[in-house]
Amino acid sequence: MSNAVLVSTIEKIVSGNKGILAADESTNTVQKRLAGVGVESTNETRRDWRNLLFSCADAAPFIGGAILYDETIRQNAADGTPLTEILRQHAIVPGIKVDTGAKHLAGSRNETITEGLDGLRDRLAEYRELGAGFAKWRAVINIGEGRPSTNSIQANAHALARYAALCQEANIVPIVEPEVMMTGGHSIETCYQVTESTLKTVFSELNMQRVDLEGILLKPNMVISGKDCPTQASSERVAELTIRCFSHAVPAIVPACVFLSGGQTEVQATENLQAINASGQIPWIMSFSYGRALQESALKTWAGDASKVDAAQRAYAHRARCNAAAAGGTYNASLELEQDNA
Ligand code: 13P
Repeated sequence: MSNAVLVSTIEKIVSGNKGILAADESTNTVQKRLAGVGVESTNETRRDWRNLLFSCADAAPFIGGAILYDETIRQNAADGTPLTEILRQHAIVPGIKVDTGAKHLAGSRNETITEGLDGLRDRLAEYRELGAGFAKWRAVINIGEGRPSTNSIQANAHALARYAALCQEANIVPIVEPEVMMTGGHSIETCYQVTESTLKTVFSELNMQRVDLEGILLKPNMVISGKDCPTQASSERVAELTIRCFSHAVPAIVPACVFLSGGQTEVQATENLQAINASGQIPWIMSFSYGRALQESALKTWAGDASKVDAAQRAYAHRARCNAAAAGGTYNASLELEQDNA
């Protein structure tokens, strides 16, 4: 029997074609994103940006969970309301990134191992107190000269499984995220091979650590052409190979795959999700857990200007609506025009 708490949390997050807002950028990464629109990264600007997203009532019907960073889960909005409380008021489950980042894997050529297992049991207990219903751990798999190595896939899969088991022990749903990066000139076929062997290794390790597969969310990359590949596969091809790959590697008992956007444009990430859901019979809910592909337009619109909060929220709500439509297989290009008329 699966753990009822985990199953009910997953239901809250992905039912009704909802997806996840990934707003768990580390302080370094969010600093880069804010600098990109001319905003200095401070405790307050980071809080205001996250608050803009979390308090967006028009996006809330399409968002079931939001992933926070350690700083954010402890922050209050300017009026003193905890940011986690604002999420709960909008029926959005707060989640927390618990890995401590991808570090150089000893003995490898430019490969990483994600760290954060030491002390994780205690940290999870604290995050549960702070309101987290789910957690995230991201493993990074790079494609390139001699990469990925078997040992980097194995080490990262092992860490993901140890993390997932600890989460379930704490009644926290683990998001298991093995990200095969889009960076590089590789073909979609290479992405297929690497994604398949990564996912197979991850599920073998999850089974080894006795993780309940009905109580996880998988956060995979789509099977997609490398960013610098001269031939870019169509959405239909992305959908076809993603589903074929998952049919080989992801057990049908896993309740949902919530894709990362990974450097796709906002519209591309939506179109690809739509193509996946338009492909007919698949055993998993296929939804989104996007960072950049939900935030990019909204961040540019806001750019730190308090008078632009409403317009930025409209941009964010629009992407959330489009992605939820894609999760339900009902997105089409005409939806993109509706933002201006909303
Ligand atoms: P992107 O959608 O921007 O890839 O971010 C998702 C995420 O959480 C990566 O860990």
